[in-house]
Amino acid sequence: MTLRVDRRLLLQGGSALAIATLLPGCATSRGWSPNPALISDVPRSDYGFATTCDDVAAGYDLSGKTILITGCNSGLGYESMRTLASRGAHVIGTARTLEKAEQACSSVEGQTTPLVCELTDMDSVAACAIATDELLNNSNKHLDVLMCNAGIMALPKLEQVDVNGVTLEKQFVVNHLGHYLLTRNLLPQVEAATGRVVMLSSTGYSLAPAEGIQFDNLSAAVKYKSFSAYGQTKLSNALFADEVARRYANTGLTSNSVHPGIVATNLGRYMSSKPRDPNKPLRKGFKNPAQGAATQVYVAIDSRLAGVTGYYFEDCNPSAMTGPHAENEALALKLWNVSAQLVKPWLS
Ligand SMILES: NC(=O)c1ccc[n+]([C@@H]2O[C@H](COP(=O)([O-])OP(=O)(O)OC[C@H]3O[C@@H](n4cnc5c(N)ncnc54)[C@H](OP(=O)(O)O)[C@@H]3O)[C@@H](O)[C@H]2O)c1
Repeated sequence: MTLRVDRRLLLQGGSALAIATLLPGCATSRGWSPNPALISDVPRSDYGFATTCDDVAAGYDLSGKTILITGCNSGLGYESMRTLASRGAHVIGTARTLEKAEQACSSVEGQTTPLVCELTDMDSVAACAIATDELLNNSNKHLDVLMCNAGIMALPKLEQVDVNGVTLEKQFVVNHLGHYLLTRNLLPQVEAATGRVVMLSSTGYSLAPAEGIQFDNLSAAVKYKSFSAYGQTKLSNALFADEVARRYANTGLTSNSVHPGIVATNLGRYMSSKPRDPNKPLRKGFKNPAQGAATQVYVAIDSRLAGVTGYYFEDCNPSAMTGPHAENEALALKLWNVSAQLVKPWLS
């Protein structure tokens, strides 16, 4: 008998309701649990809004662990690298240029390796995966955590990138497609480590267009809307994390997505009002970067989450995504296939 847990029931109604669905005859058809033997419930933490990444990492000895973080030179990526390296992890920190990666890596304590990963350039992404492979192979290690963190938000004017002759909207390429390629090429290393994929999503997924992902308008040439385009990419991040979870069910590899909160970082650089400006006093309801990085660090290392896969986390706890596309398996599968086609020349 295949046991299935409806994770929306689990998250909204608590474990009793969810476990009730395990009873014969109660299995749901739309819920899924990749590994019911490992997951009978998703542990909840006492952490919350104000918890910092340092709180979450306190007490952990991450010696021997290797963690790759994209966008290590700013905001949440930098904070994640700082705290994880301080606990003994070897952090491979990637940035758009080697100079930026080197500067960020050299400014934190602990073992770090800077690498270039320009997410609009699939040659660069593929080269980053190869360099990571070599680093790991040379040290007889595998990849314990792949943290797909880098991102851009709400470019005021449409910007496009050419990927293998196909014109695509830039946020889609940076936030989703580049990370798709990096993840696909590094999944064998994550699987070998029984590691974790951590994908930065956002509640901004709810701003995605009505159809979720506009596969017939990935260039956004028709009616570009900056936040809708961002929402599409953040929905893509969550759906991709789910799809990885499904494909790697029963391997021990886990894949989850994260909303960090509204955090004062450089993410708002393209917005004229600069609401997130890290140099201004923290606005009510906003987190500072150390608080913002708590959830992604929690999902990356907390021992209670071993085997927990296919979930979306906020404030260091699982959270139910809402809306018509939140757990749309068909959309996730289509995204996987369309993305694979787009980056086919670079897939290893
Ligand atoms: N801050 C929030 O309120 C918030 C809320 C929800 C979700 N998130 C998500 O959290 C993640 C981290 O954002 P953040 O707040 O830390 O923003 P951030 O401070 O602006 O950092 C973004 C990072 O992404 C890098 N990046 C941008 N374009 C890139 C490209 N083409 N190739 C490679 N790297 C690139 C940036 O590099 P450069 O500095 O060189 O541009 C930077 O390192 C993003 O995925 C974002 O969507 C943030």
